Amino acid sequence: MIWTVLLLCYTLILLFVILSNRKRTKREPPLDKGVIPWLGHALEFGKDAAKFLAQMKEKHGDIFTVRVAGRYVTVLLDPNSYDAVLQNSASLDFSRYAKVLMERIFLLRLPQYDPVTERAAMNQHFHGENLTYLNATMQRNLQTLLTSDILQNRMDWKQDGLFRLCYSLLFRAGYLTLFGAGQNSSPDTVYDEFRRFDGLLTKMARTTLKPEEKREAQLVRERLWNFLTFMGPDQREGPSPWLQSYLKRLQEEGVDRDTQRRALLMQLWATQGNTGPATFWLLGYLLTFPEAMEAVKREFEGLMPAEGASEEAFLENLQNTPVFDSALSEALRLTAAPFITREVLVNTTLHMADGQEYDLRQGDRVCLFPYLSPQMDPEIHQEPEKFKYDRFLNTDGTERKDFFKGGRKMKYYTMPWGAGKNVCVGRHFAISGIKQFLFMVLTRLDLELCDPDSEMPVADASRYGFGMLQPAGDLQIRYRLKDPS
Ligand code: HEM
Ligand SMILES: *[C@@H]1O[C@H](CO)[C@@H](O)[C@H](O)[C@H]1NC(C)=O
Ligand SMILES: *[C@@H]1O[C@H](CO)[C@@H](O)[C@H](O)[C@H]1NC(C)=O
Ligand SMILES: *[C@@H]1O[C@H](CO)[C@@H](O)[C@H](O)[C@H]1NC(C)=O
Repeated sequence: MIWTVLLLCYTLILLFVILSNRKRTKREPPLDKGVIPWLGHALEFGKDAAKFLAQMKEKHGDIFTVRVAGRYVTVLLDPNSYDAVLQNSASLDFSRYAKVLMERIFLLRLPQYDPVTERAAMNQHFHGENLTYLNATMQRNLQTLLTSDILQNRMDWKQDGLFRLCYSLLFRAGYLTLFGAGQNSSPDTVYDEFRRFDGLLTKMARTTLKPEEKREAQLVRERLWNFLTFMGPDQREGPSPWLQSYLKRLQEEGVDRDTQRRALLMQLWATQGNTGPATFWLLGYLLTFPEAMEAVKREFEGLMPAEGASEEAFLENLQNTPVFDSALSEALRLTAAPFITREVLVNTTLHMADGQEYDLRQGDRVCLFPYLSPQMDPEIHQEPEKFKYDRFLNTDGTERKDFFKGGRKMKYYTMPWGAGKNVCVGRHFAISGIKQFLFMVLTRLDLELCDPDSEMPVADASRYGFGMLQPAGDLQIRYRLKDPS
Protein backbone atom coordinates (compact mmCIF):
# COMPACT_ATOMS: atom_id res chain seq x y z
CA MET A 1 0.00 0.00 0.00
CA ILE A 2 2.58 2.51 1.11
CA TRP A 3 4.61 1.69 -1.98
CA THR A 4 1.70 2.31 -4.26
CA VAL A 5 1.12 5.71 -2.67
CA LEU A 6 4.79 6.61 -2.90
CA LEU A 7 4.99 5.49 -6.48
CA LEU A 8 1.91 7.52 -7.31
CA CYS A 9 3.38 10.61 -5.64
CA TYR A 10 6.65 10.08 -7.41
CA THR A 11 4.93 9.79 -10.79
CA LEU A 12 2.90 12.92 -10.15
CA ILE A 13 5.98 14.89 -9.16
CA LEU A 14 7.89 13.61 -12.16
CA LEU A 15 5.00 14.48 -14.45
CA PHE A 16 4.79 17.90 -12.89
CA VAL A 17 8.49 18.55 -13.32
CA ILE A 18 8.38 17.47 -16.94
CA LEU A 19 5.33 19.58 -17.69
CA SER A 20 6.52 22.70 -15.94
CA ASN A 21 10.18 22.39 -16.70
CA ARG A 22 10.30 24.53 -19.75
CA LYS A 23 13.76 25.67 -20.75
CA ARG A 24 14.45 28.80 -22.64
CA THR A 25 16.35 28.38 -25.88
CA LYS A 26 18.90 30.97 -26.94
CA ARG A 27 16.63 32.46 -29.57
CA GLU A 28 13.67 32.88 -27.21
CA PRO A 29 12.84 35.92 -25.03
CA PRO A 30 13.97 35.82 -21.36
CA LEU A 31 11.74 33.39 -19.46
CA ASP A 32 10.40 34.19 -15.97
CA LYS A 33 8.31 31.37 -14.56
CA GLY A 34 7.78 32.78 -11.08
CA VAL A 35 8.22 30.69 -7.93
CA ILE A 36 4.74 29.18 -7.68
CA PRO A 37 4.39 26.01 -9.76
CA TRP A 38 1.85 26.17 -12.60
CA LEU A 39 0.29 29.45 -11.37
CA GLY A 40 3.56 31.29 -11.98
CA HIS A 41 2.92 35.01 -11.83
CA ALA A 42 -0.89 34.81 -12.02
CA LEU A 43 -1.48 36.45 -8.63
CA GLU A 44 0.71 39.49 -9.24
CA PHE A 45 -0.69 39.78 -12.75
CA GLY A 46 -4.26 39.86 -11.49
CA LYS A 47 -3.61 42.23 -8.61
CA ASP A 48 -1.91 45.01 -10.54
CA ALA A 49 -0.73 44.09 -14.03
CA ALA A 50 0.78 47.53 -14.68
CA LYS A 51 3.01 47.34 -11.61
CA PHE A 52 3.99 43.74 -12.27
CA LEU A 53 4.86 44.32 -15.93
CA ALA A 54 6.81 47.47 -15.09
CA GLN A 55 8.93 45.38 -12.69
CA MET A 56 9.46 42.70 -15.33
CA LYS A 57 10.47 45.34 -17.87
CA GLU A 58 12.97 46.69 -15.37
CA LYS A 59 14.40 43.20 -14.93
CA HIS A 60 14.30 41.80 -18.48
CA GLY A 61 13.83 44.68 -20.92
CA ASP A 62 11.24 45.21 -23.64
CA ILE A 63 10.43 41.57 -24.29
CA PHE A 64 10.07 38.59 -21.93
CA THR A 65 7.95 35.51 -21.35
CA VAL A 66 6.06 34.93 -18.09
CA ARG A 67 4.09 31.95 -16.89
CA VAL A 68 0.51 32.80 -15.91
CA ALA A 69 -1.79 30.02 -14.71
CA GLY A 70 -0.17 27.35 -16.85
CA ARG A 71 0.08 29.53 -19.96
CA TYR A 72 3.20 31.17 -21.30
CA VAL A 73 2.69 34.78 -22.28
CA THR A 74 5.32 36.75 -24.17
CA VAL A 75 4.99 40.42 -23.33
CA LEU A 76 6.29 42.97 -25.82
CA LEU A 77 6.74 46.56 -24.62
CA ASP A 78 8.63 48.25 -27.46
CA PRO A 79 6.09 50.27 -29.49
CA ASN A 80 8.50 50.53 -32.43
CA SER A 81 8.19 46.73 -32.71
CA TYR A 82 4.40 46.49 -32.26
CA ASP A 83 3.80 46.22 -36.00
CA ALA A 84 5.69 42.91 -36.03
CA VAL A 85 2.79 41.54 -33.96
CA LEU A 86 -0.10 43.60 -35.30
CA GLN A 87 0.66 42.91 -38.96
CA ASN A 88 1.34 39.20 -38.63
CA SER A 89 -2.25 38.01 -38.42
CA ALA A 90 -1.38 34.81 -40.29
CA SER A 91 0.68 33.38 -37.41
CA LEU A 92 -0.65 35.51 -34.54
CA ASP A 93 -4.36 35.03 -34.17
CA PHE A 94 -6.89 37.43 -32.66
CA SER A 95 -9.99 35.24 -32.55
CA ARG A 96 -8.91 32.28 -30.39
CA TYR A 97 -8.37 34.28 -27.26
CA ALA A 98 -11.46 36.36 -28.04
CA LYS A 99 -13.43 33.11 -28.10
CA VAL A 100 -12.00 32.03 -24.74
CA LEU A 101 -13.14 35.30 -23.20
CA MET A 102 -16.56 35.08 -24.87
CA GLU A 103 -17.09 31.75 -23.21
CA ARG A 104 -15.80 32.76 -19.80
CA ILE A 105 -17.61 36.07 -19.53
CA PHE A 106 -20.76 35.64 -21.59
CA LEU A 107 -21.05 31.82 -21.59
CA LEU A 108 -21.27 32.29 -25.32
CA ARG A 109 -20.24 29.87 -28.02
CA LEU A 110 -20.88 30.91 -31.61
CA PRO A 111 -19.75 28.08 -33.89
CA GLN A 112 -19.67 30.28 -36.97
CA TYR A 113 -18.05 33.26 -35.27
CA ASP A 114 -15.63 34.88 -37.67
CA PRO A 115 -14.18 38.16 -36.44
CA VAL A 116 -13.31 39.36 -39.94
CA THR A 117 -16.92 39.19 -41.18
CA GLU A 118 -18.22 40.54 -37.86
CA ARG A 119 -15.92 43.47 -38.12
CA ALA A 120 -16.76 44.27 -41.74
CA ALA A 121 -20.48 44.13 -40.98
CA MET A 122 -20.15 46.42 -38.00
CA ASN A 123 -17.89 48.86 -39.81
CA GLN A 124 -20.62 49.68 -42.34
CA HIS A 125 -22.90 50.83 -39.58
CA PHE A 126 -20.41 52.94 -37.69
CA HIS A 127 -19.07 54.94 -40.62
CA GLY A 128 -20.19 57.57 -43.09
CA GLU A 129 -23.82 58.54 -43.34
CA ASN A 130 -24.89 55.66 -41.11
CA LEU A 131 -22.73 57.14 -38.38
CA THR A 132 -24.16 60.58 -38.95
CA TYR A 133 -27.61 59.11 -38.33
CA LEU A 134 -26.40 57.39 -35.12
CA ASN A 135 -24.75 60.65 -33.99
CA ALA A 136 -28.05 62.47 -34.30
CA THR A 137 -29.99 59.78 -32.38
CA MET A 138 -27.35 59.78 -29.66
CA GLN A 139 -27.56 63.56 -29.40
CA ARG A 140 -31.34 63.43 -28.96
CA ASN A 141 -31.16 60.69 -26.35
CA LEU A 142 -28.48 62.47 -24.35
CA GLN A 143 -30.49 65.66 -24.41
CA THR A 144 -33.70 63.98 -23.26
CA LEU A 145 -31.99 62.09 -20.45
CA LEU A 146 -30.03 65.05 -19.19
CA THR A 147 -33.11 67.25 -19.19
CA SER A 148 -35.32 64.69 -17.46
CA ASP A 149 -32.64 63.96 -14.85
CA ILE A 150 -32.31 67.61 -13.97
CA LEU A 151 -35.76 69.00 -14.47
CA GLN A 152 -36.96 67.11 -11.43
CA ASN A 153 -35.67 69.94 -9.28
CA ARG A 154 -34.78 72.65 -11.68
CA MET A 155 -32.56 75.25 -10.10
CA ASP A 156 -31.45 73.41 -6.96
CA TRP A 157 -27.98 71.99 -6.69
CA LYS A 158 -27.96 68.26 -7.09
CA GLN A 159 -25.09 66.20 -5.68
CA ASP A 160 -23.72 63.05 -7.26
CA GLY A 161 -20.59 61.03 -7.93
CA LEU A 162 -19.05 62.05 -11.25
CA PHE A 163 -18.34 58.46 -12.30
CA ARG A 164 -21.92 57.46 -11.66
CA LEU A 165 -23.26 60.51 -13.50
CA CYS A 166 -21.10 60.01 -16.61
CA TYR A 167 -21.42 56.25 -16.82
CA SER A 168 -25.17 56.14 -16.26
CA LEU A 169 -25.94 58.92 -18.75
CA LEU A 170 -23.72 57.61 -21.53
CA PHE A 171 -24.79 54.04 -20.95
CA ARG A 172 -28.49 54.84 -21.08
CA ALA A 173 -28.16 57.11 -24.11
CA GLY A 174 -26.01 54.54 -25.93
CA TYR A 175 -28.40 51.76 -24.99
CA LEU A 176 -31.39 53.67 -26.33
CA THR A 177 -29.49 54.58 -29.49
CA LEU A 178 -28.30 51.07 -30.36
CA PHE A 179 -30.69 48.70 -28.58
CA GLY A 180 -33.86 50.79 -28.63
CA ALA A 181 -36.37 51.23 -25.85
CA GLY A 182 -36.82 47.61 -24.72
CA GLN A 183 -40.27 46.48 -23.74
CA ASN A 184 -39.63 44.71 -20.47
CA SER A 185 -37.13 47.06 -18.85
CA SER A 186 -36.21 50.71 -18.46
CA PRO A 187 -32.69 51.88 -19.32
CA ASP A 188 -32.18 52.66 -15.61
CA THR A 189 -32.79 49.05 -14.61
CA VAL A 190 -30.56 47.76 -17.37
CA TYR A 191 -27.84 50.15 -16.25
CA ASP A 192 -28.02 48.99 -12.62
CA GLU A 193 -27.72 45.33 -13.60
CA PHE A 194 -25.02 46.09 -16.13
CA ARG A 195 -22.89 47.77 -13.46
CA ARG A 196 -23.15 44.66 -11.29
CA PHE A 197 -22.07 42.57 -14.23
CA ASP A 198 -19.25 44.99 -15.06
CA GLY A 199 -18.01 44.75 -11.46
CA LEU A 200 -17.54 40.99 -11.78
CA LEU A 201 -16.12 41.07 -15.31
CA THR A 202 -12.40 40.88 -14.57
CA LYS A 203 -12.93 37.95 -12.21
CA MET A 204 -15.04 36.15 -14.80
CA ALA A 205 -12.29 36.66 -17.38
CA ARG A 206 -9.64 35.32 -14.99
CA THR A 207 -11.94 32.57 -13.64
CA THR A 208 -11.31 33.73 -10.07
CA LEU A 209 -14.91 34.18 -8.91
CA LYS A 210 -15.61 32.96 -5.38
CA PRO A 211 -18.58 30.57 -5.05
CA GLU A 212 -21.03 33.25 -3.93
CA GLU A 213 -19.80 35.59 -6.67
CA LYS A 214 -20.37 32.83 -9.19
CA ARG A 215 -23.98 32.62 -8.14
CA GLU A 216 -24.35 36.38 -8.33
CA ALA A 217 -22.74 36.46 -11.78
CA GLN A 218 -25.20 33.88 -13.01
CA LEU A 219 -28.20 35.77 -11.61
CA VAL A 220 -27.07 39.06 -13.10
CA ARG A 221 -26.45 37.45 -16.48
CA GLU A 222 -29.90 35.91 -16.46
CA ARG A 223 -31.56 39.19 -15.65
CA LEU A 224 -29.64 40.96 -18.41
CA TRP A 225 -30.46 38.19 -20.90
CA ASN A 226 -34.12 38.69 -20.09
CA PHE A 227 -33.91 42.43 -20.62
CA LEU A 228 -32.28 41.83 -23.96
CA THR A 229 -34.95 39.54 -25.32
CA PHE A 230 -36.21 41.31 -28.38
CA MET A 231 -39.76 41.08 -29.58
CA GLY A 232 -38.95 41.85 -33.17
CA PRO A 233 -39.48 44.75 -35.54
CA ASP A 234 -42.94 45.68 -34.22
CA GLN A 235 -41.28 47.19 -31.16
CA ARG A 236 -42.10 50.89 -30.73
CA GLU A 237 -38.61 52.29 -30.68
CA GLY A 238 -36.81 49.30 -32.06
CA PRO A 239 -33.15 48.43 -32.15
CA SER A 240 -30.84 50.32 -34.49
CA PRO A 241 -30.29 49.10 -38.06
CA TRP A 242 -26.96 47.69 -36.90
CA LEU A 243 -28.53 45.51 -34.21
CA GLN A 244 -31.38 44.45 -36.45
CA SER A 245 -29.02 43.20 -39.09
CA TYR A 246 -26.85 41.53 -36.43
CA LEU A 247 -29.86 39.61 -35.09
CA LYS A 248 -30.95 38.72 -38.60
CA ARG A 249 -27.51 37.28 -39.32
CA LEU A 250 -27.56 35.18 -36.15
CA GLN A 251 -30.99 33.85 -37.07
CA GLU A 252 -29.86 33.01 -40.58
CA GLU A 253 -26.93 31.10 -39.11
CA GLY A 254 -29.44 29.05 -37.12
CA VAL A 255 -28.32 30.36 -33.72
CA ASP A 256 -30.96 29.51 -31.10
CA ARG A 257 -32.79 32.17 -29.07
CA ASP A 258 -30.87 31.51 -25.90
CA THR A 259 -27.54 31.98 -27.64
CA GLN A 260 -28.85 35.11 -29.36
CA ARG A 261 -29.49 36.73 -25.98
CA ARG A 262 -25.99 35.87 -24.84
CA ALA A 263 -24.58 37.40 -27.99
CA LEU A 264 -26.58 40.56 -27.30
CA LEU A 265 -25.10 40.87 -23.82
CA MET A 266 -21.63 40.64 -25.38
CA GLN A 267 -22.54 43.42 -27.80
CA LEU A 268 -23.94 45.49 -24.94
CA TRP A 269 -20.63 45.26 -23.16
CA ALA A 270 -18.53 45.91 -26.28
CA THR A 271 -20.53 49.01 -27.17
CA GLN A 272 -21.28 50.47 -23.71
CA GLY A 273 -18.51 49.34 -21.38
CA ASN A 274 -15.82 51.92 -22.17
CA THR A 275 -17.39 55.21 -23.19
CA GLY A 276 -18.83 56.12 -19.78
CA PRO A 277 -15.58 55.52 -17.88
CA ALA A 278 -13.61 57.45 -20.55
CA THR A 279 -15.95 60.41 -20.13
CA PHE A 280 -15.51 60.31 -16.38
CA TRP A 281 -11.73 60.60 -16.66
CA LEU A 282 -11.89 63.46 -19.14
CA LEU A 283 -14.41 65.52 -17.19
CA GLY A 284 -12.66 64.69 -13.91
CA TYR A 285 -9.34 65.98 -15.23
CA LEU A 286 -11.00 69.12 -16.56
CA LEU A 287 -12.60 69.78 -13.16
CA THR A 288 -9.29 69.34 -11.36
CA PHE A 289 -7.26 71.35 -13.91
CA PRO A 290 -9.03 74.73 -14.25
CA GLU A 291 -6.73 75.91 -17.03
CA ALA A 292 -7.70 72.92 -19.17
CA MET A 293 -11.38 73.48 -18.38
CA GLU A 294 -11.11 77.12 -19.47
CA ALA A 295 -9.49 76.16 -22.78
CA VAL A 296 -12.16 73.59 -23.63
CA LYS A 297 -14.99 75.92 -22.59
CA ARG A 298 -13.55 78.68 -24.75
CA GLU A 299 -13.47 76.35 -27.73
CA PHE A 300 -17.05 75.21 -27.13
CA GLU A 301 -18.35 78.75 -26.70
CA GLY A 302 -17.18 79.49 -30.23
CA LEU A 303 -19.35 76.62 -31.45
CA MET A 304 -22.65 77.60 -29.85
CA PRO A 305 -25.37 77.15 -32.44
CA ALA A 306 -27.03 80.33 -33.56
CA GLU A 307 -30.61 80.93 -32.44
CA GLY A 308 -32.86 78.57 -34.39
CA ALA A 309 -30.02 76.65 -36.05
CA SER A 310 -30.87 73.14 -37.21
CA GLU A 311 -29.52 70.05 -35.49
CA GLU A 312 -27.48 69.13 -38.56
CA ALA A 313 -25.86 72.54 -38.62
CA PHE A 314 -25.00 72.15 -34.96
CA LEU A 315 -23.48 68.67 -35.30
CA GLU A 316 -21.54 69.99 -38.28
CA ASN A 317 -20.16 72.70 -35.97
CA LEU A 318 -18.92 70.13 -33.48
CA GLN A 319 -16.55 68.52 -35.98
CA ASN A 320 -13.56 70.80 -35.70
CA THR A 321 -12.50 70.78 -32.03
CA PRO A 322 -8.71 70.48 -31.73
CA VAL A 323 -8.57 71.51 -28.05
CA PHE A 324 -11.22 69.02 -27.01
CA ASP A 325 -9.53 66.34 -29.14
CA SER A 326 -6.19 66.92 -27.44
CA ALA A 327 -7.72 66.90 -23.95
CA LEU A 328 -9.54 63.64 -24.74
CA SER A 329 -6.40 62.01 -26.17
CA GLU A 330 -4.54 63.04 -23.03
CA ALA A 331 -7.21 61.63 -20.70
CA LEU A 332 -7.22 58.38 -22.68
CA ARG A 333 -3.43 58.20 -22.69
CA LEU A 334 -3.57 58.12 -18.89
CA THR A 335 -6.47 55.72 -18.44
CA ALA A 336 -6.90 53.42 -21.46
CA ALA A 337 -5.11 50.21 -20.57
CA PRO A 338 -6.14 47.30 -22.79
CA PHE A 339 -4.00 44.26 -23.42
CA ILE A 340 -3.67 43.50 -27.07
CA THR A 341 -3.46 39.72 -27.05
CA ARG A 342 -2.74 37.26 -29.85
CA GLU A 343 -2.29 33.52 -29.87
CA VAL A 344 0.75 31.99 -31.58
CA LEU A 345 -0.65 29.56 -34.18
CA VAL A 346 2.69 28.28 -35.51
CA ASN A 347 6.27 28.69 -34.37
CA THR A 348 7.30 32.07 -35.66
CA THR A 349 10.15 34.58 -35.46
CA LEU A 350 9.57 38.09 -34.19
CA HIS A 351 11.76 40.79 -35.76
CA MET A 352 12.28 43.67 -33.37
CA ALA A 353 12.89 47.24 -34.51
CA ASP A 354 16.46 47.13 -33.14
CA GLY A 355 17.34 44.15 -35.36
CA GLN A 356 17.04 41.48 -32.65
CA GLU A 357 15.10 38.33 -33.46
CA TYR A 358 13.14 36.14 -31.06
CA ASP A 359 11.39 32.81 -31.55
CA LEU A 360 7.79 32.51 -30.42
CA ARG A 361 6.38 29.09 -29.59
CA GLN A 362 3.19 27.69 -30.96
CA GLY A 363 0.44 27.69 -28.30
CA ASP A 364 1.86 30.63 -26.35
CA ARG A 365 0.22 34.04 -26.21
CA VAL A 366 1.73 37.38 -27.19
CA CYS A 367 0.59 40.44 -25.35
CA LEU A 368 1.20 44.14 -26.02
CA PHE A 369 0.54 46.60 -23.22
CA PRO A 370 0.56 50.09 -24.78
CA TYR A 371 -0.29 51.65 -21.43
CA LEU A 372 3.32 51.15 -20.23
CA SER A 373 4.79 52.13 -23.55
CA PRO A 374 4.11 54.35 -25.46
CA GLN A 375 1.50 55.90 -23.17
CA MET A 376 3.36 56.16 -19.85
CA ASP A 377 6.87 56.04 -21.32
CA PRO A 378 8.90 59.03 -20.01
CA GLU A 379 11.12 58.94 -23.11
CA ILE A 380 8.10 59.67 -25.31
CA HIS A 381 5.92 61.79 -23.03
CA GLN A 382 7.60 64.14 -20.58
CA GLU A 383 6.18 63.83 -17.06
CA PRO A 384 3.91 61.02 -18.24
CA GLU A 385 1.94 60.83 -14.99
CA LYS A 386 0.72 64.45 -15.41
CA PHE A 387 -2.43 65.53 -17.22
CA LYS A 388 -1.47 68.16 -19.82
CA TYR A 389 -4.51 69.02 -21.90
CA ASP A 390 -2.41 70.48 -24.72
CA ARG A 391 0.04 67.59 -25.01
CA PHE A 392 -1.40 66.69 -28.40
CA LEU A 393 -1.51 70.28 -29.72
CA ASN A 394 1.08 72.18 -31.73
CA THR A 395 1.68 75.82 -30.83
CA ASP A 396 -0.35 76.84 -33.91
CA GLY A 397 -3.36 74.95 -32.56
CA THR A 398 -3.18 71.97 -34.93
CA GLU A 399 -2.93 68.35 -33.83
CA ARG A 400 0.53 67.30 -32.69
CA LYS A 401 1.67 64.00 -34.17
CA ASP A 402 5.44 63.99 -33.80
CA PHE A 403 6.72 62.10 -30.78
CA PHE A 404 10.11 60.43 -30.49
CA LYS A 405 11.84 57.56 -28.72
CA GLY A 406 15.51 56.80 -29.16
CA GLY A 407 15.64 59.36 -31.97
CA ARG A 408 12.91 57.56 -33.94
CA LYS A 409 9.65 59.24 -34.81
CA MET A 410 6.88 57.11 -33.33
CA LYS A 411 4.11 55.58 -35.38
CA TYR A 412 2.29 54.64 -32.17
CA TYR A 413 2.54 57.35 -29.48
CA THR A 414 -0.79 56.58 -27.84
CA MET A 415 -3.06 53.59 -28.48
CA PRO A 416 -6.37 53.81 -26.59
CA TRP A 417 -8.22 52.24 -29.55
CA GLY A 418 -5.74 49.48 -30.28
CA ALA A 419 -4.18 49.50 -33.73
CA GLY A 420 -3.87 47.66 -37.02
CA LYS A 421 -6.64 45.45 -38.38
CA ASN A 422 -8.44 45.16 -35.05
CA VAL A 423 -8.52 48.84 -34.16
CA CYS A 424 -11.76 49.79 -32.39
CA VAL A 425 -14.68 49.89 -34.82
CA GLY A 426 -16.71 52.22 -32.62
CA ARG A 427 -14.11 54.88 -31.95
CA HIS A 428 -15.75 57.66 -34.01
CA PHE A 429 -19.11 56.96 -32.42
CA ALA A 430 -17.51 56.92 -28.95
CA ILE A 431 -15.67 60.21 -29.50
CA SER A 432 -18.82 61.78 -30.87
CA GLY A 433 -20.88 60.74 -27.83
CA ILE A 434 -18.26 61.98 -25.38
CA LYS A 435 -18.05 65.29 -27.22
CA GLN A 436 -21.83 65.77 -27.30
CA PHE A 437 -22.13 64.92 -23.61
CA LEU A 438 -19.33 67.28 -22.61
CA PHE A 439 -20.68 70.08 -24.76
CA MET A 440 -24.11 69.75 -23.21
CA VAL A 441 -22.82 69.56 -19.64
CA LEU A 442 -20.44 72.49 -19.99
CA THR A 443 -22.79 74.81 -21.83
CA ARG A 444 -26.04 74.06 -20.03
CA LEU A 445 -25.07 73.20 -16.47
CA ASP A 446 -23.22 74.76 -13.59
CA LEU A 447 -21.09 71.84 -12.46
CA GLU A 448 -18.42 71.95 -9.78
CA LEU A 449 -16.47 69.82 -7.31
CA CYS A 450 -18.12 69.63 -3.87
CA ASP A 451 -14.67 70.06 -2.37
CA PRO A 452 -12.62 72.35 -4.64
CA ASP A 453 -9.42 70.72 -3.35
CA SER A 454 -10.37 67.18 -4.25
CA GLU A 455 -8.00 65.21 -6.45
CA MET A 456 -8.64 62.54 -9.04
CA PRO A 457 -9.23 59.13 -7.46
CA VAL A 458 -6.64 56.45 -8.30
CA ALA A 459 -7.51 53.69 -10.74
CA ASP A 460 -8.79 50.30 -9.61
CA ALA A 461 -5.59 48.33 -10.21
CA SER A 462 -7.37 45.04 -10.90
CA ARG A 463 -8.72 46.41 -14.20
CA TYR A 464 -5.39 46.85 -16.01
CA GLY A 465 -5.72 44.92 -19.24
CA PHE A 466 -9.49 45.30 -19.65
CA GLY A 467 -9.90 48.46 -21.70
CA MET A 468 -10.75 51.69 -19.90
CA LEU A 469 -9.71 51.86 -16.28
CA GLN A 470 -12.27 52.70 -13.63
CA PRO A 471 -11.67 54.81 -10.52
CA ALA A 472 -11.21 53.09 -7.14
CA GLY A 473 -13.43 55.79 -5.61
CA ASP A 474 -15.46 58.63 -7.07
CA LEU A 475 -15.32 62.41 -7.34
CA GLN A 476 -18.21 64.18 -5.58
CA ILE A 477 -19.72 66.96 -7.65
CA ARG A 478 -22.84 69.11 -7.65
CA TYR A 479 -24.68 70.55 -10.59
CA ARG A 480 -27.75 72.50 -11.60
CA LEU A 481 -29.25 74.04 -14.69
CA LYS A 482 -27.49 77.26 -15.68
CA ASP A 483 -29.43 80.42 -14.93
CA PRO A 484 -30.78 81.28 -18.39
CA SER A 485 -30.60 85.03 -17.79
C1 HEM B 1 -13.83 55.15 -25.10
C2 HEM B 1 -14.43 54.12 -25.63
C3 HEM B 1 -13.76 52.90 -26.27
C4 HEM B 1 -12.47 52.44 -26.15
C5 HEM B 1 -11.33 53.03 -25.30
C6 HEM B 1 -12.36 51.26 -27.00
C7 HEM B 1 -11.21 50.49 -27.15
C8 HEM B 1 -11.07 49.38 -27.98
C9 HEM B 1 -9.84 48.64 -28.21
C10 HEM B 1 -8.50 48.93 -27.56
C11 HEM B 1 -10.10 47.64 -29.10
C12 HEM B 1 -9.06 46.66 -29.73
C13 HEM B 1 -8.90 45.32 -29.08
C14 HEM B 1 -7.76 44.49 -29.69
O1 HEM B 1 -7.08 44.85 -30.65
O2 HEM B 1 -7.55 43.40 -29.18
C15 HEM B 1 -11.52 47.75 -29.42
C16 HEM B 1 -12.18 46.89 -30.27
C17 HEM B 1 -13.51 47.01 -30.58
N1 HEM B 1 -14.36 48.04 -30.20
FE1 HEM B 1 -13.97 49.58 -28.98
N2 HEM B 1 -13.58 51.04 -27.59
C18 HEM B 1 -14.46 52.03 -27.19
C19 HEM B 1 -15.78 52.18 -27.56
C20 HEM B 1 -16.43 51.38 -28.47
C21 HEM B 1 -17.78 51.59 -28.96
C22 HEM B 1 -18.70 52.75 -28.58
C23 HEM B 1 -18.04 50.55 -29.82
C24 HEM B 1 -19.25 50.25 -30.63
C25 HEM B 1 -20.09 51.06 -31.10
C26 HEM B 1 -16.86 49.70 -29.86
C27 HEM B 1 -16.75 48.54 -30.62
C28 HEM B 1 -15.61 47.77 -30.74
C29 HEM B 1 -15.54 46.52 -31.50
C30 HEM B 1 -16.68 45.85 -32.25
C31 HEM B 1 -14.22 46.03 -31.40
C32 HEM B 1 -13.64 44.73 -32.00
C33 HEM B 1 -12.91 45.01 -33.29
C34 HEM B 1 -12.49 43.74 -34.00
O3 HEM B 1 -13.10 42.68 -33.79
O4 HEM B 1 -11.56 43.80 -34.80
N3 HEM B 1 -15.91 50.24 -29.06
N4 HEM B 1 -12.08 48.83 -28.75
C1 LIG C 1 -25.27 51.78 -44.18
O1 LIG C 1 -25.81 50.54 -43.76
C2 LIG C 1 -26.44 49.80 -44.77
C3 LIG C 1 -27.01 48.55 -44.14
O2 LIG C 1 -28.05 48.90 -43.24
C4 LIG C 1 -25.46 49.45 -45.87
O3 LIG C 1 -26.10 48.75 -46.90
C5 LIG C 1 -24.85 50.73 -46.41
O4 LIG C 1 -23.85 50.41 -47.34
C6 LIG C 1 -24.25 51.55 -45.27
N1 LIG C 1 -23.78 52.82 -45.78
C7 LIG C 1 -22.50 53.16 -45.81
C8 LIG C 1 -22.21 54.52 -46.36
O5 LIG C 1 -21.62 52.44 -45.41
C1 LIG D 1 -20.79 62.28 -36.54
O1 LIG D 1 -20.54 61.52 -37.72
C2 LIG D 1 -19.64 62.04 -38.65
C3 LIG D 1 -19.57 61.09 -39.81
O2 LIG D 1 -20.42 61.52 -40.79
C4 LIG D 1 -18.31 62.33 -38.00
O3 LIG D 1 -17.37 62.80 -38.92
C5 LIG D 1 -18.52 63.32 -36.87
O4 LIG D 1 -17.31 63.67 -36.27
C6 LIG D 1 -19.49 62.71 -35.88
N1 LIG D 1 -19.67 63.53 -34.69
C7 LIG D 1 -20.34 64.67 -34.56
C8 LIG D 1 -20.41 65.26 -33.20
O5 LIG D 1 -20.90 65.22 -35.49
C1 LIG E 1 8.15 24.77 -32.05
O1 LIG E 1 9.25 25.16 -31.26
C2 LIG E 1 9.43 24.37 -30.09
C3 LIG E 1 10.52 25.01 -29.25
O2 LIG E 1 11.56 25.48 -30.01
C4 LIG E 1 9.75 22.93 -30.50
O3 LIG E 1 9.92 22.13 -29.34
C5 LIG E 1 8.57 22.42 -31.32
O4 LIG E 1 8.85 21.11 -31.78
C6 LIG E 1 8.28 23.34 -32.50
N1 LIG E 1 7.05 22.90 -33.14
C7 LIG E 1 6.92 22.76 -34.46
C8 LIG E 1 5.59 22.30 -34.95
O5 LIG E 1 7.84 23.02 -35.21
